Amino acid sequence: MTIYSAEFIKSSKFMEDCPEGNKPEYAFIGRSNVGKSSLINMLTNKKGLAKTSSTPGKTQLINHFLINDNWYLTDLPGYGYAKASKSSRAEFSKMIENYILSRKNLVNLFVLIDSRHLPMQIDLNFINWLGEEEIPFSLIFTKLDKVSQKEFSFNFKKYSQKLRETWDELPEMFKTSSEKKIGQEEILSFIEDTNKYLARNKIYFGE
Ligand code: GTP
Ligand code: MG
Repeated sequence: MTIYSAEFIKSSKFMEDCPEGNKPEYAFIGRSNVGKSSLINMLTNKKGLAKTSSTPGKTQLINHFLINDNWYLTDLPGYGYAKASKSSRAEFSKMIENYILSRKNLVNLFVLIDSRHLPMQIDLNFINWLGEEEIPFSLIFTKLDKVSQKEFSFNFKKYSQKLRETWDELPEMFKTSSEKKIGQEEILSFIEDTNKYLARNKIYFGE
């Protein structure tokens, strides 16, 4: 799929402030600093579209970007930010939980995982919660450029094993590097196919 337009729409603190949910929406979530905002910039070929930072906790709100006038990409704040206060963490989980559970046009949530790490409990808990709530999701392994092939295969295998403990079928998984532009085509094709599926089945949102 060719991206011919990618436009920042708004940042929202609460679900109720989000733009009208009348188009298919794809959101990015994962631990702070995993590379969510960088990935959005890589996918859209627009460097400064989503704000990135080497310090975790950069994205604090729900950010909507309209792509090709036709669907939304959503950048979410990261979870597991160690320095956040307890109350702000609680407020954050409520805001994100509410968004994930009630955003009707959210067709897929991409959960980002850092390729450098072995499976982390916080990610597994989050993934399992999505399963319980029947939220459609896929996994994206990020920062592939930071690991050797061997290291990645090892971590990937461990991840798959862990997931098999609770899932009969593994979710769709993508490998990416925003730095080296790896995985752009695969993710955009996945979104394109999903959009086509929705159109073919006349699944529209609030129109
Ligand atoms: P929060 O908004 O704080 O939750 O973080 P985020 O998940 O949006 O991460 P962000 O995109 O801001 O990236 C965090 C850091 O990782 C930045 O310093 C990026 O340059 C770096 N980074 C992101 N993706 C990649 C990648 O694919 N390769 C490398 N080498 N660095 C990356
Ligand atoms: Mg961010």
